[in-house]
Amino acid sequence: MTKRPTILATRRFPDAVERRLARDYRARLNLDDRLYDPAGLVAAAEGADGLFVSATERFDADQIARLPTSVGILGTLSVGLDHIDLDAARARGLVVTHIPDVLSEACADTAMLLLLAAARRAREGDTMVRDGSWTGWAPTQLLGVKLNGKRLGILGMGRIGQALARRARGFGLEVHYCNRHRLPADLEQGAIYHADADEMVGLSHFLSLNCPATPKTTGFLDAARIARLPDGAVVVNISRGELIDEAALITALKSGKLAGAGLDVFDGEPKVNAALRALPNTFLFPHAGSATVETRDAMGMMVLDSLDAFFAGHDVPRRASLTERKRQVP
Ligand code: DGY
Repeated sequence: MTKRPTILATRRFPDAVERRLARDYRARLNLDDRLYDPAGLVAAAEGADGLFVSATERFDADQIARLPTSVGILGTLSVGLDHIDLDAARARGLVVTHIPDVLSEACADTAMLLLLAAARRAREGDTMVRDGSWTGWAPTQLLGVKLNGKRLGILGMGRIGQALARRARGFGLEVHYCNRHRLPADLEQGAIYHADADEMVGLSHFLSLNCPATPKTTGFLDAARIARLPDGAVVVNISRGELIDEAALITALKSGKLAGAGLDVFDGEPKVNAALRALPNTFLFPHAGSATVETRDAMGMMVLDSLDAFFAGHDVPRRASLTERKRQVP
């Protein structure tokens, strides 16, 4: 019998996923869920045939060059690939696989949660009830922003954006989107396409950022674009913190230009800007867009399916190629 390949798991993964990993591979699990530093990760990967990682580990060109040559595949429990230098991986012959699709519904649920929470001042309401400052119903208490009849702009109409659009229509929102390519009518489902992001921003009472972080999208929502938003708009980000100029966002939230923001991701996370944390009109979530039991299990199984295919000598599903990366840019 041939030797089972060795896989280094860089984080704790769901139980069912780790059980399968340990059954089918020589698994190096991370039962304490300690965060590896780059050198520690390279040392732990010595002699490994593959890595099962997450977006908390960065694989820039230097780190990829330092990986032991035994490592042939890197499977990441994320749809995002911004933590991996795909050019460097390709140059080194390292196969990279990720997990698009399986998390779209959970992430769209989170986007809707953030949108509703920011629009209806969920954080302030929850605090009032918990801290005893609520003195009873009042006609002008906690007035928020209505959804029905308003416009939602979605930047990046991939699978998550489309899943959000389906939900938004149920709340009476008119869906607008900006994407690199216009979608076919069956996927568009009546959503209104804008080739020009600024045009879409200008009419979005709600703006949801759903595109990957790339050099093109980094800093997308800056002071100039915030100024274009209708007064009292609500911003949602479930993509990557780098898409927003947080200083500009904070200024707009303080001045009332923006009614609120629902954020699942932060620039420089897990550190979060103290001003964002202090503002009453933000609803903040700890990068937990896909965090449901069912979704995380399915994500892990998908990574394992790709590892299985690789070690069986088959085509690796969901292999991240440069073409895919280019396609993701809205
Ligand atoms: C993803 O899947 O990209 C999530 O943001 C977790 O990293």
